[in-house]
Amino acid sequence: MCDAGAGEGAARALAPALLRWWDRARRGLPWRAREGERVDPYAVWLSEIMLQQTTAAAVGPYFEKFMARWPDVAALAAAPDQEILAAWAGLGYYSRARNLIACARLLARERAGAFPQEEAELRALPGLGPYTAAAVAAIAFGRRAVVVDGNVERVLARVFALREPLPGARAKLRRLADAATPAERPGDYAQALMDLGATVCAPRRPACAICPLAAFCAARGEGDPARYPFKSPKPERKLRRGAAFYVTRPDGAVLLRERPPKGLLGGMSEIPGSPWSVDFDEAGALAYAPLETRFARLGVEIEHVFTHFALRLSLYAGQAEQGRAAPPGCRWAPPGLEGEALPSVMRKAIAAARGACPGGGQERTP
Ligand code: ADE
Repeated sequence: MCDAGAGEGAARALAPALLRWWDRARRGLPWRAREGERVDPYAVWLSEIMLQQTTAAAVGPYFEKFMARWPDVAALAAAPDQEILAAWAGLGYYSRARNLIACARLLARERAGAFPQEEAELRALPGLGPYTAAAVAAIAFGRRAVVVDGNVERVLARVFALREPLPGARAKLRRLADAATPAERPGDYAQALMDLGATVCAPRRPACAICPLAAFCAARGEGDPARYPFKSPKPERKLRRGAAFYVTRPDGAVLLRERPPKGLLGGMSEIPGSPWSVDFDEAGALAYAPLETRFARLGVEIEHVFTHFALRLSLYAGQAEQGRAAPPGCRWAPPGLEGEALPSVMRKAIAAARGACPGGGQERTP
């Protein structure tokens, strides 16, 4: 079991072994500078924002798309919100996209598009919390910053067999992470720890036989490293429910609206619906219908899990006549919904409604 003081001394031994491993085993991820290339702080920042709560495999195509379309801060700052939100659609955690926009515009306006290089200044930018500010400072600017994400916590909790459960153990893990961070190559060190956590010191089946830190790992010595990190029980996620209305016109146009700019899925598009609540009453669902027409309750519901709650939506379909004006706050979107900033939950709802409607709800007339 970990004695934090001794742990901090032992932590200093980790970096050399880790960096030796990384020099031959690093992942060739699209946002990383290749041998001889200069690091692009914009690419580092963009990737780190996208990688918050998202795997490298999921981020890859989004990162490539953003870099091709908006190759620098100035290009991103000049792009319309809805285009950026539409390109982000599917990555989730949309407050990241709104902060991305705010940060790019602030940098374009006040710093000619250049990033500050110090961790404390980076931390003051929209969307850069302690993790991201440290990661950008270390990777883009070679600053000695202590980078701690979930991967790093897992690796260190195992190396030091830390029995104290998360999230309470965070302060202790941070002290260990600080002691382990080298002054030389801090950016490579941070990425090496992330790679180790993602590929070797995996959550369920750590590959200890090929781990460069195996000789230092107390959890391995105990025989069951996968039981670390210890975690306090999570509070129960209450189910919220609601209704969503899939309304089409004979030409296939779909009724959409924008969510309020702040809060969950802020600024994204959605099909109209009721509020989402724990005590939603299905019998009163039609009170939230966006316009007057005949609605059929479809025999399908969709479920989606957000960070703090799970959502179940019942689906209703209705047709409006050609030429019918969209009600206030709504608009008619083209049948293919191209370029719409629809979050995954809404894509799911629309796909389910189309699957359940006779003719896919697309009774088109020329
Ligand atoms: N996860 C978060 N940041 C990362 C990075 N720079 N490389 C790999 N995985 C990451």
